[in-house]
Amino acid sequence: MKFKFLALAAIYALSASVVMADKKATDTTPAEDLKVYRDYFQKRFPGIPLDEYANGAYALDAVARDNWLAIEEFPPYEPMIEAGEALWNTSFANGKNFASCFSGDPAQRQNFPYWDAKRKMVVTMELAINECLESNGEKPMGYNKGKIADLAAYMAYQSRGQKTNVEIPDDADAMKAYNAGKSYYFTRRGQLNFSCAHCHMESAGQHIRSELLSPALGHTTGWPVYRAKWGELGTLHRRFGGCNEQVRAKKLKPQSEEYRDLEFFLTHMSNGIEYNGPSARK
Ligand code: HEC
Repeated sequence: MKFKFLALAAIYALSASVVMADKKATDTTPAEDLKVYRDYFQKRFPGIPLDEYANGAYALDAVARDNWLAIEEFPPYEPMIEAGEALWNTSFANGKNFASCFSGDPAQRQNFPYWDAKRKMVVTMELAINECLESNGEKPMGYNKGKIADLAAYMAYQSRGQKTNVEIPDDADAMKAYNAGKSYYFTRRGQLNFSCAHCHMESAGQHIRSELLSPALGHTTGWPVYRAKWGELGTLHRRFGGCNEQVRAKKLKPQSEEYRDLEFFLTHMSNGIEYNGPSARK
């Protein structure tokens, strides 16, 4: 299937290095994309080291960054990491536990998302957590918040310092999933008719209402996130849903194929940046 890159003309017009009006998602390789997106942000915000993008909007604003650093001194997500550790150590009814599904090691962040060639689908860490439960006869958890976010927070915490390194295999089905994620990112939607890229590429560093728009680069490193507005932890797909609603578009189910493909594309865009979840946001 071919996708039109509706928003690309506008975005790349800002980037002196590449002008790609009316490109199709399939026209560039993941490696070329990675270079384009990194160069775009590094040209736009000179002097910000790549790793700093792991901190979202706080990478772009010194005052907001100071406030955020003060919050991170007494992290609001600490009790959730502990709750997650308890879950990790709890035995299922059959005597097994999460360790039996994840090679005994909670530091799994760098292994997800990945392309499962056999099933021809993107597997995220949250999906793998629920598949672990189901294969052991346990009930799956809700995907947006609560227990799954606690467990993911513990696993992310154990994985801090690992580098994002999502591999997009040179395989037609994997490329189709990657390109579907990419197209989703650049497609306008909702009553506001905005694409993800309109806010998080073109307008990164600008304010929308009282919020400072974060850059797409680094968007996947810090999850799950404790958001003051939520008063709790939430997963990346919860955030995708929230951003869909901001433009008055329909939000999709967490772990739907569309959101998994989007996570595949977006995480690849952050290759080379360290995982630093869980994190706190306004
Ligand atoms: C109308 C503008 C707008 C659009 C369009 C939009 N977002 Fe957002 N997004 C926001 C705002 C505002 C925030 C909160 C402040 C921030 O971190 O950028 C946010 C936050 C995020 C975050 C969390 C960043 C962090 O560091 O905590 C992610 C991830 C994200 N958006 C992804 C997406 C994706 C994927 C899409 C497309 C499906 C999208 N956004 C579309 C406005 C938008």
